[in-house]
Amino acid sequence: MLLKEKIFKGKTLAILSGGGDTPAINSSIENIRNRALILGFKVYGIRQGWKGLLGEGDVVDLTNQPYNGRYGGTALFSSRTNPLNPQDRVNQIITNLKRYKIDILITIGGDDTNGAAKKLYEREGIPVIGFPKTIDNDLKTNTIHKYKSKEIEAVLCPGFPTAALRVSEMLRHLRSTNESHRRVMVVEVMGRDAGWLTGSGVFGGAELALVPECEMTKENKERFFEVVKERYNEKKNLLIAVSEGVRWWDDDAQQLSMVYASSETDEYGHKRFGGVSGVIASEISNKLNIPARSQISGYYPRSGFCSEYDRQLTSTLADKVLDLLIREDYGQMPVMQQIMPTEQLEEYNTTSIDMGKIGNQPLPEIYYDKQNFVFTDIYIDFLSNILGEPYCPTFGYDFKKVDPAML
Ligand code: F6P
Repeated sequence: MLLKEKIFKGKTLAILSGGGDTPAINSSIENIRNRALILGFKVYGIRQGWKGLLGEGDVVDLTNQPYNGRYGGTALFSSRTNPLNPQDRVNQIITNLKRYKIDILITIGGDDTNGAAKKLYEREGIPVIGFPKTIDNDLKTNTIHKYKSKEIEAVLCPGFPTAALRVSEMLRHLRSTNESHRRVMVVEVMGRDAGWLTGSGVFGGAELALVPECEMTKENKERFFEVVKERYNEKKNLLIAVSEGVRWWDDDAQQLSMVYASSETDEYGHKRFGGVSGVIASEISNKLNIPARSQISGYYPRSGFCSEYDRQLTSTLADKVLDLLIREDYGQMPVMQQIMPTEQLEEYNTTSIDMGKIGNQPLPEIYYDKQNFVFTDIYIDFLSNILGEPYCPTFGYDFKKVDPAML
């Protein structure tokens, strides 16, 4: 085929990012924008997710502009605005797409943003292509993890690799203060209802972990305390990574409970978690008489520059967006077919999935040992594709005690 001019000359493509930010969104925007320019599109950015298509609209021109994709977060800003509720928002969105002459929409988001985009495509015929994003890594991507003879359905979402790196570094650094005070340190990690990100604590030395996929019933909690006692006594310090969304047995209420930072809900109905690590640490102190502290990693995993892995991943998935655009294949989201190290993240290893079928995906059972509260070697193998081998240095010396009687 001889192309005399760019095939989408005269067309406009707009990008938006919705939901919690990640360190890889600017990288995604830059890479998608660059591919779209090659095809001849004018490229717009819609600010604050779907909110930027309501009212008067909030749209900026990204065509032929410098864009720093290494810088974390999203220069287009984000919001948790639900475009489908209330219903009159759909009309505002359609009106603004016409006013700004936007032909194609790329939605960078998780299940909420991309699920809504798919509905707009189906109901209103708005051409959309989704792009995965979440530090929680709980968005179905059909990515296969090959382990020995097994094929495990895993997930690989831009944003998770950088966040996992941050969590592992944070745990690695916390070790020294924890060793100094001979404490148990309970480190809380974001991830909402899934434990994917908590597992990255193991790569910085977490000896134990609690995840939402394992309910901490009365029995499980008792067993957990036994394990904590045993492991603490081995070396007098212990790092425990805990998911913010873990279900923890409340002795007073005699039921499982979740700890929230606030009672507010966002437009998709999510409440904000926060504080379970404090509850667990204080129970360890009080019930086991072991010095314990809690630390919420909070927004730190979401912050800072995009990692090399995420740079390559977003670039590869943007190559797939280019392919989808050329084939005018809408309602799709690009994904990696298989989990692999950075150098193997190439377009021929991508595919796309129907945005209507993405949904949330918890940690596979095979990745977590509920009996011993540890991540399995199979999870370690999964994450080592992204982070390399776990690196957990300790001071490492055990000095000989001086006995005055021997002097
Ligand atoms: O879904 C991404 C996420 O970072 C979750 O891990 C976390 O529970 C939530 O967003 C926090 O949301 P917000 O930025 O609204 O506090």
